[in-house]
Amino acid sequence: MTQENKTIILGVTGGIAIHKSVDLASQLVKQGHSVHVVMTENATRLVQPTQFQVISRNPVLLDLFDLGSDWKPVHIDLADRSDLLAIVPATANIIGKMANGIADNALSTVAVSVHCPILIAPAMEQHMYENPFVAANVQSLKSHGVEFVEPVSGDLASGKQGMGRLNTVEEILGRINQLLNTSKDLRGKRVIVTAGPTREYLDPVRFISNRSSGKMGYAVAEAARDRGADVLLISGPATTAPPTGVETRYIETTLELQEALLERFDQTDIVVMAAAVADYRPQAFSPNKIKKTTDQLNIPLEQNPDIAQVLGERKKRGQITVGFAAETNDLLENAQRKLVKKNCDLIVANDVLAEGAGFEGDTNIVTLLDQSGHREQLPLLSKREVADRILDRVVDLIQEGD
Ligand code: CTP
Repeated sequence: MTQENKTIILGVTGGIAIHKSVDLASQLVKQGHSVHVVMTENATRLVQPTQFQVISRNPVLLDLFDLGSDWKPVHIDLADRSDLLAIVPATANIIGKMANGIADNALSTVAVSVHCPILIAPAMEQHMYENPFVAANVQSLKSHGVEFVEPVSGDLASGKQGMGRLNTVEEILGRINQLLNTSKDLRGKRVIVTAGPTREYLDPVRFISNRSSGKMGYAVAEAARDRGADVLLISGPATTAPPTGVETRYIETTLELQEALLERFDQTDIVVMAAAVADYRPQAFSPNKIKKTTDQLNIPLEQNPDIAQVLGERKKRGQITVGFAAETNDLLENAQRKLVKKNCDLIVANDVLAEGAGFEGDTNIVTLLDQSGHREQLPLLSKREVADRILDRVVDLIQEGD
């Protein structure tokens, strides 16, 4: 299932981190969601409602007695059709009101009216967050299933350092998407995703590697997490931050990757191998830095194991392995050959030279090939969308195999 567009109420209270909420609104709109902002009066002292209105492309609700175009009170109408209420940033005040069922302004009234999941991202001074009454309110909300994106340590509005800073937009966005994705078609499935490049060391300071950023694999790990899977991400030195809610294990060499995979493979349902694995490693590792002594330097390389093939030979009925084929020429022929040789259930073929595909970027163009000869060519999509399309096929394959 690709992600559907959802209706999100973004509650905004008067915290100094409010600028992150503007960014969050913009990112949610870009993801295609319908965003409705509800601001408290104090929030409007920090940011003009017009800014949220233009970014969210919807009227901002400030007052319970605002007249909507419908006969229904606006807050009730919104509450009835929302998929998620996210309060970012959330002050001690709104947390206290919510924990006590107080409905004395537009946002606190919306909060008692919704019947969708609620996510709260608090931001306040450390001693306020640790205040026993505030802490008890947080606890009470958590015990009722309200999700929290915990604040982090850093500079606070007081100029002090401490815990209480609003978490990052990426973290909050990740949690929102996690909550919104109601199709949990991978619930209970154990998934391993490999990502990023491997490094093959010549000496303590030099290695052979490749341009993989890890973005495609990280997107698959995140998508699998959102669909309810238990995810282990085994990553080479990638340039991206790993998704939350995913167990991440870092490796460097191909042999380390193989060891990490084999350790867990037998207990795993699905393995998606997005890592760009080095096919060769230096035959010898020099414990000291290699010196510049000759005009030419030849470094003999030996072949690494083909991990995908090893797993393909070892897999039992019901286990699904997905490989990638990064090609510069004869895309489908090469991909088909890899599908057979590595005994994969699915191969994701991409022409790394094509515009919008390949390394480092946020988009990809791929063709999915499976053992039954089915070929699906996908258009230019974000790596996250590609990840979901791959997992859609994996879910189909599991169902076909049942
Ligand atoms: N792969 C692997 N072990 C290797 C090399 C690749 O497990 N030693 C996996 C990759 O993670 C990917 C798939 O196999 O899922 C295809 O990788 P690719 O580099 O495209 O193919 P190779 O088999 O290395 O073939 P070639 O380099 O000759 O194109």
